[in-house]
Formats: sequence, structure tokens, C-alpha cells
Amino acid sequence: MKANELRNTYIEFFIGKNHTQISGKSLIPENDPTVLFTTAGMHPLVPYLLGEPHPAGTRLTSYQKCIRTGDIEAVGDPSHLTLFEMLGNWSLGDYFKEEAIRMSYEFLTDSNWLGIDPEKLSVTVFTGEAGIPRDDFSADVWRSLGIPDERIYFLPREDNWWGPAGETGPCGPDTEMFIDTGREACSEECRPGCHCGKYFEIWNDVFMQYRKTEKGEFIPMDRKCVDTGMGIERTIAVLQGKQSVYETEIFTDIISGIEKLSGKIFGENEDFDISIRIIADHLRTAVFILGDEQGVSPSNLGQGYILRRIIRRAVRHGKKLGINQFFLGSLANLVIDQYSGPYPELTRNRDAVSAELSAEEQKFLKTLQKGEVEFEKVLPNLLKGKNRIIPGRLAFKLYDTYGFPLELTEELAKEYDFTVDLEGFKKAFQKHQEASRAGAEKTFKGGLADNSEMTTALHTATHLLHKALRIVLGDHVGQKGSNITPDRLRFDFTYHDKMSSEELKKVENIVNTQIKRNLPVSMQMMALEEAKAAGAIAFFESKYGEQVKVYSIGDFSKEVCGGPHVENTKGMGVFKIKKEQSSSAGVRRIKAVLLQENQS
Ligand code: ALA
Repeated sequence: MKANELRNTYIEFFIGKNHTQISGKSLIPENDPTVLFTTAGMHPLVPYLLGEPHPAGTRLTSYQKCIRTGDIEAVGDPSHLTLFEMLGNWSLGDYFKEEAIRMSYEFLTDSNWLGIDPEKLSVTVFTGEAGIPRDDFSADVWRSLGIPDERIYFLPREDNWWGPAGETGPCGPDTEMFIDTGREACSEECRPGCHCGKYFEIWNDVFMQYRKTEKGEFIPMDRKCVDTGMGIERTIAVLQGKQSVYETEIFTDIISGIEKLSGKIFGENEDFDISIRIIADHLRTAVFILGDEQGVSPSNLGQGYILRRIIRRAVRHGKKLGINQFFLGSLANLVIDQYSGPYPELTRNRDAVSAELSAEEQKFLKTLQKGEVEFEKVLPNLLKGKNRIIPGRLAFKLYDTYGFPLELTEELAKEYDFTVDLEGFKKAFQKHQEASRAGAEKTFKGGLADNSEMTTALHTATHLLHKALRIVLGDHVGQKGSNITPDRLRFDFTYHDKMSSEELKKVENIVNTQIKRNLPVSMQMMALEEAKAAGAIAFFESKYGEQVKVYSIGDFSKEVCGGPHVENTKGMGVFKIKKEQSSSAGVRRIKAVLLQENQS
């Protein structure tokens, strides 16, 4: 079975089980500042898993583009990917463990669907820990379906617990399904979850029973939910009997594009294979980020930084393969063509994707040249030293300040018969990482995922701000993103110019006048077209015909949004803009707070 067929078959199966298909969302989480990218199909559903009613009902299914960058350095081996597609089905307080497991089993083994031999199936369930019981119920359901005890494994939290997606939010024990590839076990202890390649995890049913708080407590939720995830890439690899996702049709065109440009053949030399996989993976991910509805550009911050890093790493590996021309822009078209059906936004953004890739390739080239100049500047001093070692701190400075990759420093060093103090580099690197992690934790604390009162009020304030900006600057102003913590809101919007202080004052006054009117906030569900016809602002794409929630703040603002919001603007406090600055080309950013009466 091919990826396209699996995507369609899965959705069809769950529609047949009374689920509604919802569209996948942007790779940039709309309102969750705790993570950079959408990491799972459940991510855009967090508010609904926590209790908000979903306009499409209580049984949902979707395919979702996801990015996980935790293992970015491991990309290059046969199994790691930074971007993957996740198929999922959800119960929002509807069915729970028994029905979820029965449906998973039917989809996997029934000959009308995947038709996998049940003998090849192993499952894992949560073994329990202090305060949270062992999941015997799920194990019993698997037994009743015919999975024998030898193939039901009870495993701890590291293996059988999922979530929250950010720092807080819904989570719970899960049951995971594995296919035995028939390969030799690596040891007596080899079991599902072992990474030797014998067992392939293909599906995860999570039973969202708890909500993790900022304090790290797990609070049982009254309304229990199911969240499942099946990764398309690894599932088709195992269904096709392939050893690696890179051997499936998903990568055929990209890899042959790289082969043509480099003259190297995939599968002939392990070093070259690593570079080919890195280019293939990083390029695919970069195309999805650049072509996303929320379009991110390479930069030194947040998502833009990850994007820059993967583009540059791909370029570097292109050089290793002997590609001496700009190549990412042309290869990008292969990715866009392949995904034009399920991800039409890529086609819409085709020109921008190619242009951004080429621009970043050029910038990187300049960086490399600068790094070389810098290296040559310090060389005379180094040559005066006693031993021929490049200090770690210097290698790190070249890396950090000039973006000069360590491998290149090592190569240059070799030319002059030097070695690099790798331990020293590692130490400097770790020190830097700790410092930036501490910074990141500060930046990314809290968020809409916690549904706190302050966050909710600030969320309502973004709607008032959005409307006020359109009144003051014109209707062409549109939301590009928002990021809300309990302390402040951040709102990005399209506008070409710096706002004057009069304009900022006007916006502030409008928002405060509306807050003081004690406007009721109401929500209605309707089809997207109806919402637009009713004048609702809709910036985050939904599928044509899809049911959406429209939040109205009195007669002032009407916007398509997932919520939550305050019930009335009364008591929200005084809205104050703290900063207005550029965010990227053609996009401005406002940071604002709500001061309580006694603070203002
Ligand atoms: N959210 C779950 C996962 O990503 C299904 O595995």
C-alpha cells in the first residue's frame, strides 16, 4: 500500500465509524507558545480535549503534517525523519478504551482494510505507577480480540504514557501497536519498544484521562477522551516490507533528484547515503515550513532558526556529495508536486518556497566565506603557539558567531596540520545550550494550553485588538499568528509600515472603550461559508463546508476561532500596548498586556 492510499483508507474507515473529517492545521501552533511546531494530530485539538465543544462533534478524524526536531542530529540513519504525517481519530468524551481498541484492531487486521496478519501484532499497555493504576482494562480488550498474553507487554511511563504536547495539558496512558518484521531478535530482552528494528510501532491509542498542571500534578478529567496517532511514513515502510522509510515511494523522486545532481547512487556508499538522507529529509521539512499557511522565513529565532539550520545542513551535505550549484530551489518542486493533493498550500506558495531556499543558500555561502576569512585571521597567532590545537572556544566562536560548521573548522585545521579541541568545543556548546534553554523556558512558559483565566482574557483581547487594527489601519490588515501566555499577548499581523504613536493610542483607546462596554461574548457554530457571509474574520484556514466556531464580542468583533474566551469583557482590565516592532518582512508584531484596575 502506498502513502496516498493509506491516508485515504484511514479517513474513509473512520468516516464509516461516524467520525467527521477535520482539516489538518498549520505547522505553527496557532495559540500554543509552549512548542515551536505542531508535533501531533492532537495538537490543534488541545482546547477540545480539555472540554471546549468542537463544532464538528465528538468523533473526529484527520491527517496532520507534524514536525519533531528532538532527534534532528540523528537524521541520516535509515529511520529518523523530522517531518511526518500523522493519521488520527479522536473521541471527545464519546467512546473510550474498548471501542477505540476494537476499531484499531479492525482497521489493522480486517481484509477490507489493512489486512495485517494478527499473528504479527504485539501490543503494549501501561504498567501503572504510584497513584495511577495498571491498565488491565485495555489488556483485557486485546485478549478478547485474540492477542495472546505473550504478545501483550506491560511497560512503564517512558513507553506507555503520552502527553501533554506542550508543558501542560491533556495526557494519559496509552496502548501501542507493533508489527513484528520477522527479523532476528537482538537479544533475549528484545521486545516492542526495542530499537533494533525487529518491532515497528505503527499506532498509538492514547487515553486522555488526566490534565497536567503547571505545578506538574496530574488531575483526572471528568470527560475522558481518546487521541490516536499513526505515522504514515513508518507504517507504509512496514506494510511494504521495506527496511527504511527512505526506500519507500515517498522519497523516490527526491532521492533520484539528488542522485542526478550529484552523480552519486543511493545505496552504494554509507557516507553518501547519510548525506542523501539528510538532504532528502531536511529539504522535505524546509518545503513544508516555507510553504505553510503561516509561512515562516529563515531567521535566528524560534521556528525560523530551525528552518535555517536544516537548510544549511542540507546545503553542507550537498557539498559533501559534490553538488557545486544552488540546488534546493529546484529539488523543492519535486516535493511540492508530490504533495499538491493533500497539501494545496505548498502549490500556492511554490514561488516563495523556491525563492526563500535560494536566498538562504546564497546567504550561507557568504557565511562560509566569512568564516574562512576569520579563520585565516587567527591563524598567525595559532601558529605561534606550542601545540597545533585549535581551542574549543575558538571553534565554538566560529560556529556560533559566523555559523561556521564544526566539520569545516576541522577540515581547515587539517590543512594546516592542526586538530580541534573537540572536548573544549563540546563544553562551550553545552554552556551555550544551557543558557539558551533557560531563556527559552522563560519565553515559552504557560500558554493557552492551560486555559487559565488570564490567558483566556488575553485571548479575547487579541480579537478586540485585531478588529481595532483593521479600523485604524484598514481591512487589509490580517492576523499572522498569536502567542499568549498568562502575562502578555503577542500578535503578528500583516502591515507594511511602522505604526505611529497616534495610531497605537487610537488602537488602545478603541480596545479599552469596548472592554468598558461590558460586551457579552457568544459563540455560534456554522459552516465556514456562512461564517464568512456573516462577516466573520477567518484567517486560519478550514476546509470548505467545514463547521467552525464563530466568537462574537458584542456587536464589535466576529471571528472564526477555537476559543476559549471570557463570557463578558467586564473586568478584563485595561489594555496596554507595550511594544510595536517588525516581526518579518511585511509583518508587524504587537506585545500587549491587560492591567488590572489597581495596576494601571
Ligand atoms: N498523540 C499521540 C502520539 O503522537 C497519538 O503518539
